[in-house]
Amino acid sequence: MTQWSSLEKDCLNCQKCGLCSTRRHVVFGAGNPQAPVLFVGEGPGEREDLEGIPFVGRAGQLLDKLLAAVDLDREKDLYITNMVKCRPPQNRDPKPEEQEACMEWLRQQVALMRPKVVVCLGRIAAMKLIKPDMKITREHGKIFKKGDLLMMATLHPAALLRNPSAKPGAFEDFLRLQRLLQEKSWAGEGLTK
Ligand code: URA
Repeated sequence: MTQWSSLEKDCLNCQKCGLCSTRRHVVFGAGNPQAPVLFVGEGPGEREDLEGIPFVGRAGQLLDKLLAAVDLDREKDLYITNMVKCRPPQNRDPKPEEQEACMEWLRQQVALMRPKVVVCLGRIAAMKLIKPDMKITREHGKIFKKGDLLMMATLHPAALLRNPSAKPGAFEDFLRLQRLLQEKSWAGEGLTK
């Protein structure tokens, strides 16, 4: 068993916080863990909880469109996961203690994957992973450097569904990501890394 599948197996049995009592599935993540780009959302919604796969509901369909528009394939070019791996009831924001309890899974995913770019989908991931005072409406699309790691936040696709006038701004972020990947020699490495 690879280290990645062993981590996934452990995560699927997680009982580190109360969300384990209401979840139907743990949503570990999906895509290519050898890709250079990691997307991090907030937490599974209803469909994701039912299917055990991130971003498969309406927000996920919009995310797929944004990715396709910049020639990114979610199976091959990136890996997608969430700050919390289990659905918060009624899709409420994950509580700080739930995020903290779940953070170790993400830390281990990052340690094994060693992404070059992390894209935070929405405020919750951006505040936890980039900086606590992140103002996503102003700072989305901006590139932050943490050591060798590049980080960017974009608006959460669910927020774009609620506020379609923000879509062009979010699309700019995806174009920025595309340009960034085109500039980097490691960007096409995918499965061969
Ligand atoms: N919203 C998220 O933040 N993550 C998902 O997986 C689905 C919706």
